[in-house]
Amino acid sequence: MVRQTIIRPEEEPEEEPRPRRTPRGGAGGEPPAITATGAGFPADDPESDDELRPKRLTDVVGQRKAVERLRIMLDATRKRKEPLGHLLLDGPPGLGKTTLATVIPRELGVEIQMASAPALTAPKDLLPYLTNAGHGTVLFIDEIHRLPPAVEEFLYPAMEDFRVDITLGDGLNARTINLKLQPFTIIGATTRSGMLTAPLRDRFVNREHLDFYDLDELVTIITRNAKKLRSEITPEAATEIARRSRGTPRKANNLLRWSRDYATSRGDGRITTEMCDRALEMLEVDNLGLERQDRRYLETLIGVFTGGPAGLQAIAHTMNVSPDTLEDEVEPYLLRSGLIQRTPRGRMITAAALTHLKIDPSDPRDSQQRKLF
Ligand SMILES: Nc1ncnc2c1ncn2[C@@H]1O[C@H](COP(=O)(O)OP(=O)(O)OP(=O)(O)O)[C@@H](O)[C@H]1O
Ligand SMILES: [Mg+2]
Repeated sequence: MVRQTIIRPEEEPEEEPRPRRTPRGGAGGEPPAITATGAGFPADDPESDDELRPKRLTDVVGQRKAVERLRIMLDATRKRKEPLGHLLLDGPPGLGKTTLATVIPRELGVEIQMASAPALTAPKDLLPYLTNAGHGTVLFIDEIHRLPPAVEEFLYPAMEDFRVDITLGDGLNARTINLKLQPFTIIGATTRSGMLTAPLRDRFVNREHLDFYDLDELVTIITRNAKKLRSEITPEAATEIARRSRGTPRKANNLLRWSRDYATSRGDGRITTEMCDRALEMLEVDNLGLERQDRRYLETLIGVFTGGPAGLQAIAHTMNVSPDTLEDEVEPYLLRSGLIQRTPRGRMITAAALTHLKIDPSDPRDSQQRKLF
């Protein structure tokens, strides 16, 4: 299915999918160059994100400092009637990068085009987006750290001088055409700002880092979203779900949906603490919010690498999981919760992780069995 690539201001994206097809330079029969947002995102269930996604800046919970700065940027942009400066949003998955990227054009009353970097394999894939960009509109590029070098270089003059240099022909007959573009805004999202090249990073005049949410913010999100889903939830149950959401709104939404399904199927539909305890136990989400994959990571580090230090690649190969997945989705929360440490020699388990997994290093059975320390 071709998903929507342009969202007009004040239009609800899910109401009227309106795929925008752009003529492309490639041979016929290829899939459209513009793939809409959503494809291939490192997310639990990005397809269902849209329903609960805040639409306006006032609906965005938390990220107070980033939101305050954005308000100033948006206000200045409106007053000057100039396009917003290019903006880079970075942070772990599910914290609201796509959400902010869609809220901003809505606040400014401009159009947004959405692209995903892995789909932009050559400059010709990016060209239609650039030529389609109207004055002040937003081009959102997700996973921008995955742009191939040739596409990235093609983007430099577009970002800096609003022009692209197109080379026609080759050899002696080669000519370069400079194509002027409308001044527009690129909003880039990345889970890995460290992987961005310095020239690309420097072309973003505005940068915002999104951080994990605290308990109260997640409770607010869960309570609001339960209302949107027309479900009844007790404040205690909302707190319990928030506690197990790893500081991530997307996790909170997913756990809320699951608890709601469970309560509907096994109870009267009300999400109480007891219901959500049982629901989350069935999902194998423990009281810290660790999932099976997180516990496997800790157990691998303990059982195979005697608690570390161990390199990311080695852990990933042992678990048969991609190192990127571990680095983006598993490690940030384990590090933040103090369950592992990152040292120059590799990852190490902490005493808190042993306590959480109920392993006693002074118990000879535990340490022998797991060859600990
Ligand atoms: N500040 C927020 N307030 C309320 N809900 C939020 C907020 N941030 C995110 N959410 C919820 O979490 C869901 C996931 O957020 P979003 O898709 O923006 O994450 P992301 O950072 O783009 O993740 P990824 O890196 O996986 O693309 C949204 O659909 C929304 O419902
Ligand atoms: Mg996203």
